Parts: sequence; C-alpha cells; structure tokens
Amino acid sequence: MITGTDSRSALFRADFPSLQQEVNGHPLAYLDSGATAQRPVQVLDAERTFLETTNAAVHRGAHTLAALATEAYEDARETVARFIGAGSADEVVWTENATDALNLIAYGIGNATLGRGGPAAARLVLEAGDEIVVTEAEHHANLVPWQELALRTGATFRYVPVRDDGTWTVDDAASVITARTRILAFAHVSNVTGFVAPVDELVELGHRVGALVVLDACQSAPHRAIDVQALGVDFVAFSGHKMLGPTGIGVLWGRPELLDALPPFRTGGSMISTVSMDETTYLPAPQRFEAGTQPVSQTVALAEAIRYLDAAGLGWVQEHEERLAQKMLAGLAAIPGIRTVGPPLGVPRSGLVSFDVDGVHAHDVGQFLDAEGIAVRVGHHCAQPLHRRLGVTATTRASTYLYTTDDEVDRFLAATAEVRGYFGVERAR
Ligand SMILES: Cc1ncc(COP(=O)(O)O)c(C=O)c1O
Repeated sequence: MITGTDSRSALFRADFPSLQQEVNGHPLAYLDSGATAQRPVQVLDAERTFLETTNAAVHRGAHTLAALATEAYEDARETVARFIGAGSADEVVWTENATDALNLIAYGIGNATLGRGGPAAARLVLEAGDEIVVTEAEHHANLVPWQELALRTGATFRYVPVRDDGTWTVDDAASVITARTRILAFAHVSNVTGFVAPVDELVELGHRVGALVVLDACQSAPHRAIDVQALGVDFVAFSGHKMLGPTGIGVLWGRPELLDALPPFRTGGSMISTVSMDETTYLPAPQRFEAGTQPVSQTVALAEAIRYLDAAGLGWVQEHEERLAQKMLAGLAAIPGIRTVGPPLGVPRSGLVSFDVDGVHAHDVGQFLDAEGIAVRVGHHCAQPLHRRLGVTATTRASTYLYTTDDEVDRFLAATAEVRGYFGVERAR
C-alpha cells in the first residue's frame, strides 16, 4: 500500500519511462540515483523538441534558428541562476559535468600562477608553502585536480582526516586549516556516507584565513534547495545528469569578481574577443570558459529538469529521501553481518546508504540484488582514500531520488537480508 509522502513518489514515477521496465523478470528498483538519475518524459521531450525545431550553433550566425537557439541557451542559464540563487546569469558557467567544473577552477588557478590573466589574476596566484585543503572523504573529482594543482604550483596539498565512520567535524577541519590555506574544497554531501558538511562553519574558517572555499554540490544540488549566496562559498560545481537532466552538461557557479579574475582553462573558438597571429584576448565570463561548440540541447533539457524539480518542491524531495535513508539504515541494522558507513541511525544524512556485508564482496552483493531487479552501486564510488581509511576495498551503495518508493526500499532490504545466506557465509562463520 502507498501512503504518506510515498504516494507522491509513485505519482512522479509515471513520468519516467525507464522506471516502467522489468529487469531480470522483476520490476526495476533503481537505487543508483547517486551515480546518475533517470529522466522524466518532460526532459526527454524538451531536448527532442529543441532538436526538432531549434537546433543550431549558438552565439554565431545571423539566421533565425541560430538566434532562437542562442535565446534558449541563455534562458537555460537564467533558469540555473534562479535555481541556485545566483546574483546574475553571468555567474553561471556551462561545463561538461562537475569534474570539468572543478578542473576549470584548478587549472584556471594554475594558469594564474603561471602569470596568465593579468593583474586581476594576481589574487589567485599560489606560492610555494601555500596550502590546498580537501577532506579524506572526497570524490576523486574534488581531490585529483587539487593534487595536480599542488604538483604544478609547488603548493602543499593537505587533507582533513576522517573518523572511523567516514565523517569529520569542524574541529577536525580547524586543526588542518592554517594561515597559509589558500583553497578549501569539500563536498556539500558525501557520495559515500551521505554526511552533510557544516558549510557555514567551514566558510567562516576558510574566509578567516583568506582561503577560497570551493563546494562540490554534486550530491546536494539535485536533492535539497541550495542558495549559493546564502552558503557564502566562492565556487560551486554540480552535474546535470544527477538532477534529472542529460549527461554532458554541468554547472560552475563563481563569485563574479573571481570568475572575472580566473584565466581560461580551455582555449579556442567561441571564447575569444580578438585573435591575431600574435595575441588573443578573451571574452568576459561566462563565455570565456565555454570554448568550442556548446552543448545546447543539454542546457535546454537541464532547464526543464529544474522546472520539474521546482514543481516537485526540493523541500519535499529532501524530506522524502532522508526518510528513506533512515528506513534503509534501520532495516540494515537488523540484518546480521552488515556494517553501514557514515552517520548512525537517527543522525541527519542525505538519501543514500553505503554498507559492507561481512564475508561477501560488494560486487557479489550487487549481482545478487541485480538478479532481483534491484540496481545499486558497488565499488569504491570514486573515493578510494575514504574506502582505504574505512578498511574496505568496496562498499554497496543504495541511493534514492524523488521517484523512489517505500516498496522499493522494502524489496532492497528483504533481498539484502538473503545475501549472506545465499553465499553460505552465515553457515560458515
Ligand atoms: C560528490 C561527487 N562529486 C563529484 C562527482 C563527479 O560528477 P561527474 O562525474 O558528473 O563529473 C560525483 C559523481 O559521482 C560526486 O558524487
């Protein structure tokens, strides 16, 4: 029976063609939205309609379709700006995904350090002994680009160590941040533990020492309302495909004065002001960062995804997913041989749960669940240092979205309770 907030998720499901199918003879229970979300028919239609009626290259060409496509592309930017509380659409840069957005910042700062960008970029220059701080819980996308930046600039790479459950505190961060910290980068919500970072306190710590605060909002922007100005951070990155939109489109938000100061990462067509055989000048942000032919239909579809999320109400989405996560935690706690990672039962976390099954590799857990039509993520979830710290090579992750129902969580819990018996581990120990 469908009750309470669950009845809304059942209504949303009807919009998602991919959720109507069977997998291995069972209705698909898609519990892998942390990796990528499914797309509602409204988003699929928006992209298709654009391609059928308006497809053209933007910001060049004098014909009607080119003008309409440019308008759609810039309207989508406005939609994103409104969605995240940006002061202006010019603060929104289209990227390929969150990984690309984070690389854009890191390589831009690297270029500033190489002397590119003129006097405005001086504030971004890193010197030997300056520190870049991340946490041990980061997704590789918010870790490797910073390691690389440290290697290229001579800055020191440091990290906030996590505790036994994979979480960390403001005090832990305070003990790593110093007067030399110039960049502080962390995930708003961990893709492994569901831990929600104490952004306010971190912004205060970072800004007190003059550091730029970079927020990886990949696992927050799709699931809870964010307001970049209220958060007080300096840069925010997220991906379209995790929020009902297409792959190939991501967002970088930055404070206008920082975007203006940041030298471009990629160079070529579309992002230039003038080019001679001797020198090139670049357009202002955001165009300065959007080199080459842009992903136009993807931006249009992402704007439609945002309208869908707005209509659903992110307050409800957050509440629904957090309730399901607590339900998963309570259910998993009742199954012998399972260790969940992240905040314990009852402590707020976002809508995902990762766990280790004693004696069974996560890949086997994933295959067993798949045979039941239940899709989960297995592996290190692009967070190898965190898994190493937790003492496991891999975990199984069940992650939810607005279309996830209680019934799917019940099926997941019932199947997971069978795993150890199926692999003969209960009997062997
Ligand atoms: C916390 C976090 N950061 C960054 C990323 C990278 O996102 P993308 O692969 O879309 O660039 C992910 C994706 O799983 C993530 O969960």
